[in-house]
Amino acid sequence: MKKTINDIDLYHKRVLLRADFNVPLTKERVADDSRIRKTLPTIRKLIEQRSKVIVCSHLGRPKGKPVDALRLDPVAERLSELLNMPVPKIDETVGTRVSEAVEKIGWGEVVMVENTRFDPGEKKNDEKFARKLADLADVYVDDAFAASHRAHASIEKVAHYLPAVAGLLMAEEINTLGKVLEHPEKPLVFILGGAKVSDKIQVIERMLSKADSLLIGGGMANTFLKARGNRIGNSKVEAEQLETAGSILKKYWKQIFLPQDVVVAEKFEADASIQTVEVEHIPDGWQIMDIGPDTTSLYKDKIYDAQTVVWNGPLGVYEMAPFAKATDRIAEALSETDAVTVAGGGDLGAAIAKTGLENKLTHVSTGGGAFLDFLAGKALPGVSVLMDKSMP
Ligand code: 3PG
Repeated sequence: MKKTINDIDLYHKRVLLRADFNVPLTKERVADDSRIRKTLPTIRKLIEQRSKVIVCSHLGRPKGKPVDALRLDPVAERLSELLNMPVPKIDETVGTRVSEAVEKIGWGEVVMVENTRFDPGEKKNDEKFARKLADLADVYVDDAFAASHRAHASIEKVAHYLPAVAGLLMAEEINTLGKVLEHPEKPLVFILGGAKVSDKIQVIERMLSKADSLLIGGGMANTFLKARGNRIGNSKVEAEQLETAGSILKKYWKQIFLPQDVVVAEKFEADASIQTVEVEHIPDGWQIMDIGPDTTSLYKDKIYDAQTVVWNGPLGVYEMAPFAKATDRIAEALSETDAVTVAGGGDLGAAIAKTGLENKLTHVSTGGGAFLDFLAGKALPGVSVLMDKSMP
């Protein structure tokens, strides 16, 4: 267990808060503020403790130099609206202007510094840059679970120079995911969608060693179906993963469930002609866009029988309404069961948010790559470096 902001004295402390505010923007406004909202409990607690809160985050991939479209101003503006208090935004990440701004704000107030990835030292996990960040504060709080798989200066190195603890979101992520993976109530069902097998081989193998059933959908099901010998028309396949998919099927055939029926389209377009067919009858030239209703029912039954459900990746091309049905139905099933339900990774958070059912699941992770690395059993540098609860 990691120490959290509840375990240390933060009264009149300058706190460097690493958040993951890597949020989508449209026309210089935050298009989806869920990552900001999920950090509010931590920020509010720090304000309550009369800390000075110095918020830092990356946004996008600016390659070590300032990019105007990736400045954090819209994020500071949204945070200020949500907190209902001013959040001044400084155009530098470290240095004199930042120290002056920190000096100027009162206890219980918040300031945001510029995108950490504007500094070439960030991605290099550079000691000098990390020390400059650390010089701004007395305590380091990490709430950026979604970035914790990156060994970057504001995530990993900085934590060597300050007492480093988890924020409330970080603690919730690592404790919930840890419990589910280390001591899951059985049966454990793992639902896996998304486009590519290649991104998830380690996750598949680790989860197969823990889960009673693996229910596969999304683009990756195509590769498994083809490896099994099904004719899948024009559906996208990862040819170089066929052999791996074949050997996984051979080894774990008892645990793995593949679609029995699918929704196919004549073209990869929302208004294309569609039909639902059994996987043995996919017409030449058509492509799989979603799992079918029979498969959805089978997967729902598996979910209702489970005590723990972990879900990664949409089951169809959910961005196009006609192919979002299975993903929506499975989200509904997770919202209805009493099992522990955890979902996350890439697009899935957004897909579940669209259904409005997010609060009915036990936990929807903010992590994309970090969630996958956690499932794969990899150490997350941003988590490992935080102080353990047992440390004095
Ligand atoms: C994410 O959005 O998954 C994190 O913020 C990490 O972003 P990155 O893949 O650009 O490191």
